[in-house]
Amino acid sequence: MIDTLNIPVNRTPASRLAQTDFSNLPFGKIFSDHMFVADYADGEWKNLQIVPYGDISMSPAASALHYGQAIFEGIKAYKQKNGQIVIFRPVDNFERFNISAERMVMPVVPEEIFMQGMAQLINLDRDWVPTAEGHSLYIRPFMFATDPVIGVHASAAYKFIIIIGPTGAYYAKPIKVKMEMHYARAVEGGVGYAKTAGNYARSLYPTLQAQKEGFDQLIWTDAKEHAYIEESGTTNVMFVINNVLITPSTRDTILDGITRKSILALARSWGMAVEERRVSVAEVIEAAREGSLQEAFGAGTAATIAHIAQIGYKNELFTLPDPASREFSNKALKALSDIRYGNVEDEFGWNYTV
Ligand code: COI
Repeated sequence: MIDTLNIPVNRTPASRLAQTDFSNLPFGKIFSDHMFVADYADGEWKNLQIVPYGDISMSPAASALHYGQAIFEGIKAYKQKNGQIVIFRPVDNFERFNISAERMVMPVVPEEIFMQGMAQLINLDRDWVPTAEGHSLYIRPFMFATDPVIGVHASAAYKFIIIIGPTGAYYAKPIKVKMEMHYARAVEGGVGYAKTAGNYARSLYPTLQAQKEGFDQLIWTDAKEHAYIEESGTTNVMFVINNVLITPSTRDTILDGITRKSILALARSWGMAVEERRVSVAEVIEAAREGSLQEAFGAGTAATIAHIAQIGYKNELFTLPDPASREFSNKALKALSDIRYGNVEDEFGWNYTV
């Protein structure tokens, strides 16, 4: 995309880059020197700027704090061997961001603001993009309502911000998940498909209960019957049963994941049988019981591919085949990594060069 926006930059006088330990990159704790900020008021986006990363001030009555009009995205950028920086499928995230905005009655962000704000920020902080394979720059665009009015209404004012930071793995090891048979993440007609803050807030209590039982994450099931699998806490979820890749089809209770659809595209390109459909809890448990559940994994931007080592269902615990031996998910992980780091040709056109 050609830079058509002249975004003013207020550079930090004190870079934190030299004090950052790139050999130890926990997820979501380290942020680069700058951030992109824009305001929405009087029906238009204005005050576009890149400023030093730091605290923001707002009214304590800001409606996002009370009524949760807040959405976000998760995107990753990679530094290739020749020093070129690529962002993985950011236009897909841009489109999903505006789908979330529409559902939450928030203004859409124009493509040039989203894309050029992100690209110019990354370009400025390009030394923050890690080089080690397995590491990346995590990009977090988000928007929230700033009307200083405590009355339940769709706000007239918003802030759109992009923060970025180097990151390593989201999950350090294969995960132990619990099939959630009581609580629900999303309901039909609700906001499950939107990447809105409340979806994550409501997941915290059930996840904490599962963590107290020794699990890392939940697999959410449908709110009506708890008979069908929806997604996992931070990712979509996929299974390989009898050499078929099976994943819940997206619907209004499920986030339309970009890693999910990239993995499906890879599988199809390799001629693998793929099924996107309603996936019942019963069939997955049955497959685990009889040994035909070859692989299970979460697929998401932050986590990439998170191998599921064990699945808890009611009072039973099923241990799946050793993650190191799993053919499909390891091949998909390598293929994604090779495309992102430029080890192979990007035949799908997924990389967006900064
Ligand atoms: C992502 O995968 O980027 C997400 O946004 C999920 C999570 C870290 C909240």
